[in-house]
Formats: sequence, C-alpha cells, structure tokens
Amino acid sequence: SAAYTADLVVFGGTGDLSMRKLLPALYHSDRDGRLSPETRIIALSRGGLDDEDFRGKVDAEVRDQVPAGDPAGWRRFVNRLHHVTVDVGVQNADDTAGPGGSGWDALAALLAGHEDRDRVFYLASPPRTFGTFCREVAAAGLVTPRSRVVLEKPLGHDLASAQHINDEVGAIFDEQQIFRIDHYLGKETVQNLLVLRFANAFLEPIWNSLWIDHVQITAAETVGTPGRRGYYDHAGALRDMVQNHLLQLLCLTAMEPPARNDREAIRDEKVKVLQSLRPITGGEVDRFTVRGQYVEGDGMPGYLDEPGSTPPTEESCRVETFTAIRAEIRNWRWAGVPFYLRTGKRMPRRVSEIVVQFKDVPHSIFPGGMPNRLVLRLQPEDGIELHIMAKEPGAGEVTLKPVPLSLSFGKTFTARVPEAYERLLTDVLAGNPTLFMRRDEVEAAWRWIDPILAAWETSTELPEPYPAGTAGPEGARELLGRSGRSWHEEES
Ligand code: BG6
Repeated sequence: SAAYTADLVVFGGTGDLSMRKLLPALYHSDRDGRLSPETRIIALSRGGLDDEDFRGKVDAEVRDQVPAGDPAGWRRFVNRLHHVTVDVGVQNADDTAGPGGSGWDALAALLAGHEDRDRVFYLASPPRTFGTFCREVAAAGLVTPRSRVVLEKPLGHDLASAQHINDEVGAIFDEQQIFRIDHYLGKETVQNLLVLRFANAFLEPIWNSLWIDHVQITAAETVGTPGRRGYYDHAGALRDMVQNHLLQLLCLTAMEPPARNDREAIRDEKVKVLQSLRPITGGEVDRFTVRGQYVEGDGMPGYLDEPGSTPPTEESCRVETFTAIRAEIRNWRWAGVPFYLRTGKRMPRRVSEIVVQFKDVPHSIFPGGMPNRLVLRLQPEDGIELHIMAKEPGAGEVTLKPVPLSLSFGKTFTARVPEAYERLLTDVLAGNPTLFMRRDEVEAAWRWIDPILAAWETSTELPEPYPAGTAGPEGARELLGRSGRSWHEEES
C-alpha cells in the first residue's frame, strides 16, 4: 500500500484525543508502512513544550498503548514528532474572535520549504476555536493548495452554530478540503455494513417495509462521565451520540444502493435519508423520545455526584445521559418501519449494534416463533449474527428455539482489526473523504435534532432517573412496548 508524505499539524496536539487515539493510530500507520520517512507530526498547544519535551511526554503516555517489542520502530515514530507553542487567543465560549494569536512564526519556519507536500491541519480542539484557527493559519500564509483541514466533533450545538462553524471554515477552505470526522464511520463493521448490503444479492429484495418490521440501533456504554461535566452538561446524549454516530448508522442501514463506491455517490444517498426523516416536533417529542439520567446504583455514583471540576448546576440536572427515540423515514422503502435509536452511559454492558427485525411468518404451523433477526455488532466484538428459528433436537413434540448463525470477524480473519482512527487518518492522508461528513449531511442531521432539543429545553420535566448499571429508564421499554415490541436483549 502507499506511503504518504505529509506534514500533519495537530491543533490540540497534547490533549486527550491526541494522546489516546491519534498518536496510537499514527504509530500503527507508521508500522504498517503508510508514512514515508519524511512525514512529520507537528503538535500545537499552548503548553510551551519543545520537541524533546513533547517526545518525552509521548514516550511516557502513549508507548504503553501500543504493542511492545519494536524499539526501533518506536524510535522512528518518536523522531517524527514536533511541538510548536501556538495560542489562537480564544478564551471562552463567547469569545470566538480572540485578541490575535501567537506562535505562527515558529510554525511557519518549521513548514517552510515543504509547500509541495500534503499539509493536514487536524483540529482536535473545542469547536469555538475552529474559525479563529482557520483565519489565523491563513493569515500566516500557511494554507497551501495541498492543504486539508480535519474537524473533530462536536460540530456545533445546534443547526445555527453548525452553520456558523461551516461558514467560518468554508471561508478559508473549499468543501473538498474539509474532512469532518465521525469516528463511527471508521469502525470495521460500519464499513462492512455497506459490503454486506451491496456485495451480496440476497438481502436487497427483503431490505424494505414489506419484510422488515423495525430496526433498533443501540450504542450502550458502561462508562459514566467522570471529569467531563464541563463538556457533557452542554452536550447530553442527543448531541454527543445521536446527532452524529447513531444517525450515521441509520443512514448506512437505510440508504439506497449507490451507483458507485465513491465519495459523492455514497454521501448523496446518506443525505437523502436524513432529509426523509419525519420531523419530531412539539407535542410529539414526548411521545417519540425518552430522556434519562443515571442516579446512584451498583456501587457507582449518579451523574450529579460524578467527580468533576465543576459542581453540578441546574443545567446538570436537565442533561440526559440516556435517550431513546422512535424515528421514521418517509420514503417508499421505509414507510411505516420504525427505527428505534438508543444510547446511554452507565448501562449494564458495552454494546453497539444494529438489529434488523424481520416480520414474523405470515402463518405459523408451530407453537412459538419470532427471531428472523439480523444483528450487526460493532462492539465489543465485530460480527454479524442471523438469528433463525430451529428445531430443538428430540423425538417428542416439535419445539422451536432461536439460534444464531454467527460470524465473528476476529475469528474469521487473522489480520489485525484497525482502530477507527487509523482508517480515517489513512483516508485523510490519501485525500479520500468518503467516510467523512459533508456539510449538507451535518446540517440535515441538526435540522432533525433541533426541534427535539427545543422541546426538551422548554419542558418542565426532568429526565427520568435510572440507576447506574441498568438498561435505562422505564420509558425506553414503553417506547417499544406500546406497539408490542421489545429491545433485542430483553428477549435473549
Ligand atoms: C464520542 C463521545 O464521540 O464517542 C463519547 O463523545 C463516547 O461520549 C464515545 O463515549 C463512544 O465511542 P466508542 O468508539 O467507544 O463507541
């Protein structure tokens, strides 16, 4: 495979995301030969480190996260690292202009003479800094024709703020140069979903409302939000997980077959799904959505008692750590098929999966029935399961039992399964934006989310409490229960 030559400039380069995800992913890319010897990784932060300090920090914090046993490879990787102290001057949430930054000269000096190679500006920093960063980097003359910019989430907190960020970044970079990350798109099973749907003929004829009863998309996490209140109070599960990750999974599940495997063809189809989502507004919000917040349980503290830098406020009491939504897609393929979306913190198990529930047989000659269910699992182990009905062995009466035909990617393929960020960083270096969100996609997603947020914000009710370590509030069960359905794990 190709080895890429680039200067990768990471703003927020000493932060959590960089240390936990980006640098380990880049190490693996290096090890697999995808970075040419000239490729450099340049971290920017306000931290006042020099190259050696930064290399020491990476050695101390990242080395344990990657496989041991290749000291020469690690050395080579560490020698690619640089640090430049840059301050864009943005202080707080209301300050997007900043007094003018500092440190650009040092960055310019480091980049000088390398205008002919790809230059990637990776913004792993709060979104309020995106606009200023882009303006300042352009003012410093550092945006070359071969430059790209990568934007980390959250891309705004509603439609208007997302549009504002897109305008600001769009004033400096062309849409073709902008890579908006949704790391779920880098997960193996998510990409496998496209292969499963469009490289196998048998599913397509039954992939519609004639055969499918409903779809469940779940991203359950066992972790809580310790230390994250400052961010999470203003986010909540809807913004943090649904607007991006879950809606992306919904798009890939529901989209029409694209004519080609290329960036615009796939993104065109996804955006059509988002535009077909039936808006949930006003009084409907209470009927079709559920909000929850975890309270103490199973030896774990509640959301309000999580250790954090800031004490809980009124906003903390209102923020949802769990949400479930009944979505509908208004088009020929999906009319009448509910898509249930669900995500939560402090759930009993970490599991992300898409469950496609087919309709029951039209006439049953056996007692009992159901499964007819396809499960695509993203986490904890990538895999696909087709739950079918089978006869339990025995000479007596026929007894049916649901059993899975299962494919585990880990067991079937011997190759190492790359982390989502590895795939996405490789695509950025290759200049391939297929797995990144286009501006119209992000905005269409916010357009659907906004009225739900608005109704929640004006609601006099607080999120329903659920004890930490349980499967969310009762309301989530009722959301399906009232049409005689239940969540996948409740039956198994
Ligand atoms: C992030 C959210 O985007 O995704 C986090 O901000 C969440 O709150 C994380 O924990 C989940 O990602 P993954 O890959 O662990 O499912």
